[in-house]
Amino acid sequence: MPDPAPPAPSPYPHRHLLGIEGLSAQTIAGLLDLSETYVELSRQVDKKRAVMRGRTQINLFFETSTRTSTSFELAGKRLGADVINMAVARSAVQKGETLLDTALTLNAMHPDVLVVRHGDSGAVELLSQKVDCAVINAGDGAHEHPTQALLDALTIRRRLGRLDNLIVAICGDILHSRVARSNIHLLLATGAQVRVVAPPTLIPKFVDRLGVSVFHDMREGLRDADIVMMLRLQTERMQGGFVPSLREYFHFWGLDQAKLEAAKPNALIMHPGPMNRGVEIDSVVADDINRSVIREQVEMGVAVRMACLDVLTRNLQDVGGVSP
Ligand code: CP
Repeated sequence: MPDPAPPAPSPYPHRHLLGIEGLSAQTIAGLLDLSETYVELSRQVDKKRAVMRGRTQINLFFETSTRTSTSFELAGKRLGADVINMAVARSAVQKGETLLDTALTLNAMHPDVLVVRHGDSGAVELLSQKVDCAVINAGDGAHEHPTQALLDALTIRRRLGRLDNLIVAICGDILHSRVARSNIHLLLATGAQVRVVAPPTLIPKFVDRLGVSVFHDMREGLRDADIVMMLRLQTERMQGGFVPSLREYFHFWGLDQAKLEAAKPNALIMHPGPMNRGVEIDSVVADDINRSVIREQVEMGVAVRMACLDVLTRNLQDVGGVSP
């Protein structure tokens, strides 16, 4: 029997996926193109491939998660990896073991990929410098959530056929949102116009320097938008009064049918989840079967994470495996 054909070269020329900032439009398009194949695979009865057979993936979540953790687990299993979900709440972290000691301990077991979520911005990059395997950032503090931006882009591209020349309004708690940051980097890199729409207390200083337009009125910010991307109000990251009350926040900043009328008639409604219904979004628009793509975003999440695991695994093969 001849040897199996070597895997195609990876369309992703990096060892880790730590953020969207700095990725080229070509690299992003390559990841989205590969994700398309995994959308199709995930809709088949037999959803498994052997792309990661023999590989070990450890998911290490220091913050809660439903969508990201479940989809990374599914993605790894569909690609044939051995997937370990480390239960941080039952780990030696509770005895005071540090992030880096935890990472070095796991590294000694020769994983191929670590998927890490952490509450501190920069923590995942720091960890990536200490281990031999590939690292994927599953969300670090208010910094980046790269696979969320990729799955959002895939959802938009499949619905509207492109990412360039679109007006995207990202609305709500921009200040605390890693989803907003990653989406801003991705959408600007791929040629969209990006608006951030929020009260002054929830907009980071100097955000306009990234190349976005800032709006402090929902109807103005949503005017003629193709995409309305709502963000969760991250009360767990707030100390003090960023908003007067949740009721008042919904009145001025919550997406409802009346405010949505400012956007294009077929504008898509997006939300990364988890949603706070009645705080940043009204159930009528969240559940609008014609315009809300929130469930589709979740489906795209599995495909995008399969693509990311695939390319990073191929990169390990390209360099002859990780060094001991
Ligand atoms: N969008 C997102 O990151 O959701 P989870 O916190 O449930 O993973």
